[in-house]
Amino acid sequence: MSNAIISGIASYQPDDILDNQMLSEMVDTNDEWITTRVGVKERRILRQEGKGSGYMGQLAVKKLLQETGTDPQDVELLICATSNPDYRFPSTASVIIHDAGLNNAYGYDIQAACAGFIVSMQAANAYIKAGLYKKIIVVCAEKMSSMTDYQDRSTCPLFGDAAAAVLVEPDNTETLGVIDAEFHVNGDGLPNLLMKAGGSVKPATVETVRAREHYIYQEGRAVYKHAVSDMLSSSLSVMKRNDLDVEQIDWFVPHQANLRIIEAVGDRLKMPADKVLVNIQHTGNTSAASIPLCIDEFKNKLHKGDKILMTAFGAGFTWGAMYLIWAIDPK
Ligand SMILES: CC(C)(COP(=O)(O)OP(=O)(O)OC[C@H]1O[C@@H](n2cnc3c(N)ncnc32)[C@H](O)[C@@H]1OP(=O)(O)O)[C@@H](O)C(=O)NCCC(=O)NCCS
Repeated sequence: MSNAIISGIASYQPDDILDNQMLSEMVDTNDEWITTRVGVKERRILRQEGKGSGYMGQLAVKKLLQETGTDPQDVELLICATSNPDYRFPSTASVIIHDAGLNNAYGYDIQAACAGFIVSMQAANAYIKAGLYKKIIVVCAEKMSSMTDYQDRSTCPLFGDAAAAVLVEPDNTETLGVIDAEFHVNGDGLPNLLMKAGGSVKPATVETVRAREHYIYQEGRAVYKHAVSDMLSSSLSVMKRNDLDVEQIDWFVPHQANLRIIEAVGDRLKMPADKVLVNIQHTGNTSAASIPLCIDEFKNKLHKGDKILMTAFGAGFTWGAMYLIWAIDPK
């Protein structure tokens, strides 16, 4: 049976920077608070009117096609992970498929909040293992600024906009690609992290807009606590199942939620800091896009055969970990 390998990776970040100084002119905050509590210095924001997650997603996909020399007509399936779809319907995947010219692909969206990348990779892995498809794109596209309340100082420093895409193909050696993963959902987490209105439970009205219910609502401390314990437990579980200790892992790539969360999970795993990939300082939390965006930034350090442990936590609560062996040598 073939394994699903990542055979290419690319990303897109908007040009506009929103740094901590600029935020401190918008809400009652300061660089020192944001740096020590969150670890973010700046984030990118897509300011172009009429452009959403799909716009960033198709740019990441076009770059991926170009860099991997892939004919757009050969792509069979595109899975888009997003919490910031262009429209409530149709899927953002359908927008990206159209704009990137993937004329023979079908696609759909996955909503797994910040765990969207590894959850989508698990789906892609299953298709490859079943022999259904040979060329799949997983794209994570998140215009987080579209649901960030820039009047709420407790959430607005955290998030940034980005998209990242990977090409997923079969490999017959069974020594590369997705080796194992585990996932969990605990719906008790719902009240701690959600957008309260705009869904079918509470459709948009003048009142919901006035009450600012179309933005991220978060109980920061509860989310922090669960993010640390759940990313830790799922990482340990995947390590145990695969007889992996920290010495054998080459790279640990946690969801870039908050630098303190990343450090707390890394410390508890006893993961050496130089194996932990971190780019949140200049990206913010880009939700589903954060893991592939981070890997793309550091891809020149990664070698074929490197063992990578990824873990993510997000709204739902939804979380998990994935063990993957990298299949690309640096250029
Ligand atoms: C949001 C988060 C950074 C807040 O940090 P915290 O240490 O828990 O801070 P608290 O919410 O307890 O607030 C502490 C104080 O800082 C204040 N504060 C909050 N945001 C602030 C800001 N941007 N600037 C300055 N002060 C701020 C609070 O009002 C509070 O003041 P008080 O003590 O006078 O009431 C933290 O809880 C967190 O990172 N949670 C997880 C978020 C996350 O990763 N979400 C995505 C998951 S995928």
